[in-house]
Amino acid sequence: MINNLVRLGKMSWEEFTKLSTKNRAPYLSDDSDRFVHLIYAQQFNRDNLEYIGQLATKIRMMAKSKEGSDFLSTLLSDKRAMLYFTQPSTRTFLSFMAACQILGMKVAEVRDATTSSEYKGESAEDSVRVFSSYSDLIVMRTKLKGLAERMAWLLSNSKRLVPIINAGSGKDQHPTQALLDIYTLQRSFEDINGIDGKHIVFVGDLLRGRTVRSLAFLLGNYNDVKMTFVAPDAFQIGSDILEYLDKKGIQYDLSQNFKSVIPTADAIYMTRVQDEWDNEEGESAKVDISNFWFGDEELKLLQKHAVIMHPLPRREEISTSVDQDKRAVYWRQMRNGMWVRAALIANIFAVDTEILNFSE
Ligand code: NCD
Repeated sequence: MINNLVRLGKMSWEEFTKLSTKNRAPYLSDDSDRFVHLIYAQQFNRDNLEYIGQLATKIRMMAKSKEGSDFLSTLLSDKRAMLYFTQPSTRTFLSFMAACQILGMKVAEVRDATTSSEYKGESAEDSVRVFSSYSDLIVMRTKLKGLAERMAWLLSNSKRLVPIINAGSGKDQHPTQALLDIYTLQRSFEDINGIDGKHIVFVGDLLRGRTVRSLAFLLGNYNDVKMTFVAPDAFQIGSDILEYLDKKGIQYDLSQNFKSVIPTADAIYMTRVQDEWDNEEGESAKVDISNFWFGDEELKLLQKHAVIMHPLPRREEISTSVDQDKRAVYWRQMRNGMWVRAALIANIFAVDTEILNFSE
């Protein structure tokens, strides 16, 4: 662990941020490729994605028995986590809390900057330093792109190195959501050759949906994957993602004709309009998104083995009548979040081997 941390510690913020995201990634892991901080999706590769999936499955199986759960809850019982969520969250917050509890960690939270000293003018940097004095892990969600990364750099340069996990950074990234999405896809396609060769269709507000952006990066680790981005012009995916796909030689399409792509989809990834990012009141409401909803008609066009996903929360983009269909996996997807987050934390704190070696 020490070498990369010393390297990151010796590097100025200016030097560090001159590197491309891909080149920054190694500095956030240790010499044996164990995550120290988890900030963006580009830190994942096929090997660690598969490894975290395997670990998540083992934790999921162990949690079914009292013996297994009791064992898991001893692993990090000497550690405390801080959940620092200054943007709304239900699932990510609760699943991180549950993940910490599965491993026996004690959890504290700050969910509203107006009740913390940030309101008195304390900088986010100073707040994070404060959290690092009381906890061994900081999970943070913020509306500011890049803040989690800066905090990771800051703590790697402090006397108390505490890992940072990004639980959503602005419109930019949500790497642990993408991780649970990958795990859901792995499980859904277990009997049909996994994620390789699959066609993933993203629908909705792809411009401001950070989960889509992070997942597109992760899917770039699989062979012969095809992605279709279905959105009105105003919400179409950012050019940086397309440049990444071009560089990786990954096939993709942009479309506004949702119905025409459903029959060839293996997974449909629906998203809500992210109107909290509107520059002016009512901006999103002017965009007609009614052709980008999934209901009974769309369900008829879907292949038997295909799955419908959503990071949630949903609005009207998936009709509740679809919920009962076996291909609607968004509830399972949400529960998967707890298992992969527990696996990620176990990896960061190096208790993964103990988990994998456990037998009842
Ligand atoms: C997503 C988010 O916050 O980016 N929610 C989540 O974490 N499951 C998606 C959204 O809010 O639309």
